[in-house]
Amino acid sequence: MTTFLDAARLEPGPAETARFRPAVHFTARDTWLNDPNGLVFHDGLYHLFFQTNPYGNVWGNMSWGHATSRDLLHWTEHPVAIACDETEDIFSGSVVVDHGNTSGFGTADAPPLVAIYTSAYKATAEYSGTQAQSLAYSIDGGMTWHKYGGNPVLSRNSPHFRDPKVFRYQGEDGAWWIMAAVEAQHQRVVFYRSRDLKSWEFLSGFGPANADQGEWECPDLFPLAVDGDPDNLKWVLIVNVNPGAVAGGSGGQYFVGQFDGVRFIPDPGSLAAPDGVSALDSIKAAAALQQCLWLDWGRDCYASVSFTNVPDGRRIIIGWMNNWDYANQLPTSPWRSSMTLAREVRLTAAHGPARLVQQPVLAGHSANEEQPAFKALMHVDSFDLQDSSFQLPDAEPRNAQVIEAEVLPGNARRIEFRLFADTGGSEGTVLRFDPDSSRLVLDRRRSGDTRFHGKFASAESAPLVLEDGVLKLQIVVDHCSVEVFAQGGSVVLTDLVFPGAQARENWLSAAGGHATILKLTVSALS
Ligand code: FRU
Repeated sequence: MTTFLDAARLEPGPAETARFRPAVHFTARDTWLNDPNGLVFHDGLYHLFFQTNPYGNVWGNMSWGHATSRDLLHWTEHPVAIACDETEDIFSGSVVVDHGNTSGFGTADAPPLVAIYTSAYKATAEYSGTQAQSLAYSIDGGMTWHKYGGNPVLSRNSPHFRDPKVFRYQGEDGAWWIMAAVEAQHQRVVFYRSRDLKSWEFLSGFGPANADQGEWECPDLFPLAVDGDPDNLKWVLIVNVNPGAVAGGSGGQYFVGQFDGVRFIPDPGSLAAPDGVSALDSIKAAAALQQCLWLDWGRDCYASVSFTNVPDGRRIIIGWMNNWDYANQLPTSPWRSSMTLAREVRLTAAHGPARLVQQPVLAGHSANEEQPAFKALMHVDSFDLQDSSFQLPDAEPRNAQVIEAEVLPGNARRIEFRLFADTGGSEGTVLRFDPDSSRLVLDRRRSGDTRFHGKFASAESAPLVLEDGVLKLQIVVDHCSVEVFAQGGSVVLTDLVFPGAQARENWLSAAGGHATILKLTVSALS
């Protein structure tokens, strides 16, 4: 929030940027976007509402945009769902399917969709200077929305109370709506409950904890069965933080613990240090940040929250693929910013305490629904690299690629993918595994246009443990992004990149020794 810029001072960016438009990551047609909002599955459609500026491509005039998809890869944008007006901006929030019509906005036979959003009140409003929680409802499956006349439904008279995520909870005394929201500047998640979505009772607070050097935003709380065991449920609390994330600027952390209908109690193993990371000594603070649990170790995954109402108990999250450090200056126009891929999350205790793993949802169909979304372009089973490189298919204009590799690093000192590389080798985004430090590094310092903001050129890294000596990578490249899911999704790194028009080559190499490539597959959008 503190990093928002004065819209009027910003340049719109170069017009010739259509080549950066992603194929399978959602972008708004011709406007700005930030956080995903109101993620809900309803009647066969995934609804993605999102923070948008209907009048421009920098942050401002915050309203909820709207898009739908059947497969989370191909999206259709619809008119603005909930618009700002002279009294309020519409900040982030969630949507629930009110199956029992507890709110009275629909009927028992035709349950309403209810949006719980933050009213960021403007100077002229009665509640000026505060952020409070409000309702809007839809009785046509999410296509049109009506603001509730009794708004706001929950105020703390606070200027930084926002981002309500509401879910259904079955308690011993019946079903409740539970809200997780934040007191952003106090690094605190606050929990409330309600029977009807209109009147709310305070339950408890959580935080500060772990990464607490920025504002806490966009929380989410949901249960998952550890390794699929329904008798071993744990709760995941997502807390986004800006700035102060592990790679710099904004990012998403999570905690694993229990929720008893009133309070979230973190497992001791999900706390980095009893006092969080607010050490005065910056080296200690950086080391402590490494101990926090991060959804993504890259620069560009923020405000991640999950869909509600997805069949079969699947839990799917989407993040905003950007960073408040430079979000308003991305070199694209007229659209600016995109979402991450949808990612299915699971909890596993296979390697110690329960931790999240994420898998991108790529299983959709082609636009004409006739073929799988991604088809194999290249598959190689086993070969060796010794101080040598192997060329993969080029990145294709208007297409996205998924590269999957399993590598035995052997005695090589570096396993390296060079993506979006030019033929001279001077430009490229580097994904490198470094066996000595056991870290996976994503380096975009020579990835193309990095000069639009001083904080953009960067290299970020995550600790990575080989499984039976094997490095397992799934990399999704889509025009202006590289998303890396390593070791079955237990380590995730997402970075934006803006490569030159001719920088389309992809290479895999082993340096300083000998490595065995056990498997290498490249698929492209069909
Ligand atoms: C997070 C955030 C939210 C707020 C919204 C405003 O990126 O700052 O806390 O509701 O963006 O656009």
